[in-house]
Amino acid sequence: MTYSTLPKVELHTHLEGMAPPDFIRQLAAEKKVDLSGIFADDGSYLFRDFAHFLSIYDEACTVLTGPEEFYRLTRAVLTQSAAHGVIYTETFLSPDFCGGGDVAAWRDYLAAIAQAATDAERDDGIVLRGIATAVRHHGQDSCRQTARCAAETAGGFLTGFGLAGAELEGRPADFKYSFDMAREAQLQLTAHAGEWGDPGRITETLDALGVERLGHGIRAVEDAALLQRIADENITLEVCPGSNVVLQAVSGWDAHPIVKLRDAGAPITVSTDDPPFFHTTMTAEYEGLSKTFGWEEADFHALNVTGAKAAFCDDATRTAIL
Ligand code: ADE
Ligand code: ZN
Repeated sequence: MTYSTLPKVELHTHLEGMAPPDFIRQLAAEKKVDLSGIFADDGSYLFRDFAHFLSIYDEACTVLTGPEEFYRLTRAVLTQSAAHGVIYTETFLSPDFCGGGDVAAWRDYLAAIAQAATDAERDDGIVLRGIATAVRHHGQDSCRQTARCAAETAGGFLTGFGLAGAELEGRPADFKYSFDMAREAQLQLTAHAGEWGDPGRITETLDALGVERLGHGIRAVEDAALLQRIADENITLEVCPGSNVVLQAVSGWDAHPIVKLRDAGAPITVSTDDPPFFHTTMTAEYEGLSKTFGWEEADFHALNVTGAKAAFCDDATRTAIL
């Protein structure tokens, strides 16, 4: 089967985390910033573990400044995604990296990214929606500021609010204020949980934040009652197998719980997370699922149906991608 041409719905990517290393290296050279420590000899991003990944991610973002650069980045990554058959995608954007939490600056960044999405839809036939995302390890104040930025700009391109970063820093309830603000602004909600955190943290995330999707959520597999709740409440899991393997959240493709999650009735989707960091693409994710678990076209189609149902978009867009 040719996996690259299968149509795909992808709900979990980080915009800055999609930046190819060459894109970041060139910006660093132009701005005379020494980023040599974040690259391996072969030019790819270099990190030891999740904490180190988060730190080089933040370092790469220091050279990504200004709406115009985000316009170029968004256009480039959407062309790439479309080449792998992605027809609808959502991306996490953080005011921390787009104007440092200033609402007026964030508006300009968001406008540039939304314009890139409009242009990519016309040229590459791919639809993008944005999820304003707080970064846990940037601290409580910055998370609240992200929620303020999100609430001020909700609607149109910006359809969601999310939480990423170091999952084990703080407790889910610490972010309730920000999620309540985003919910009031009619944004749809997702949070990274259960990538590293145990089932108790996933439960706390559902209880305190009222999210309708979970980033990763894979450790739910350890708790049958939680899995039942996820199935009953139709909480969609944004599963990113390649990311989990490279960051060693699981020991390898064979050990990935995606089949167990699916068999337990959890709504599952598949995404790349930060593709160049994890040497992956949506085509590679599909190939991995096929090779490891024997998944076929019907399995991939089911991912799209689940993805379309859980997408943070209006019903006309949903119908178009179903
Ligand atoms: N930010 C970018 N990628 C992430 C991941 N896999 N988990 C948490 N935060 C992230
Ligand atoms: Zn993620």
